[in-house]
Amino acid sequence: MKVVVGSNDKISKLIAEDFINVVNKKENAVLGLATGTSPLQVYANLVKANKEGRVSFKKCTTFNLDEYVGLEGTHNQSYRYFMNENLFNHIDIDKKNTNVLLGVGDYKKFMNQYDDMIAKAGGIDIQILGIGSDGHIAFNEPGTSFDSLTHETELTEQTIKDNSRLFNDISEVPTRAVTMGLKSIMNARKIVLIATGKNKAKAVYGLIKGPISEDMPCSILQKHKDVTVYVDEDAYSLVK
Ligand code: F6R
Repeated sequence: MKVVVGSNDKISKLIAEDFINVVNKKENAVLGLATGTSPLQVYANLVKANKEGRVSFKKCTTFNLDEYVGLEGTHNQSYRYFMNENLFNHIDIDKKNTNVLLGVGDYKKFMNQYDDMIAKAGGIDIQILGIGSDGHIAFNEPGTSFDSLTHETELTEQTIKDNSRLFNDISEVPTRAVTMGLKSIMNARKIVLIATGKNKAKAVYGLIKGPISEDMPCSILQKHKDVTVYVDEDAYSLVK
């Protein structure tokens, strides 16, 4: 596991370069994407690079990590909406090659096909992850099996509280989600994780130093052969 410490500005640029390098080596690369506040600057850098002609996503396929159960893709807090607004609408990707789990309708059927779809696309070449303050990656909350594939899950009170900042009221935050599993994530060939801020320090400690335990889902990444953890000083403070 490689660790890079720097400002959000710096690490977001470095992660964008990781993606650009993968795509420039393999134009039909399969990209694993995350939502949340953490990857926002990475996506802004990818949009910029695309507009400058440094990278093209025309032949890429993407798979997102998760989606809230109960939100339509048009809801402004759905992860489909987030991806369109922050990345897909601004780059040259073919929208039909962008996959975000569904949260309504026949979402279970789609969820059950997701890992096969990823495998059929050739597997994820590079996966970006954020991390929850409780150590979750995607929506794999503490206690999730390391063998999990894409599944439906209940969000913890901590995650609901953390994510309520984006909703008008905590009562509006969905309590369930569909998420790629820990095994699905470990199948990615390359993983980059971004964490900033003091409220991530405990999770980052568990990620880098902690025992490998299902109580700290991110700790499984210690077993992956190509992970780079990008953190700012605050998120790194307990490891130091
Ligand atoms: C989002 C996701 C989550 C977030 C995590 C951190 O697709 O999978 O695991 O990465 O909750 O969220 P932020 O970045 O908003 O602190």
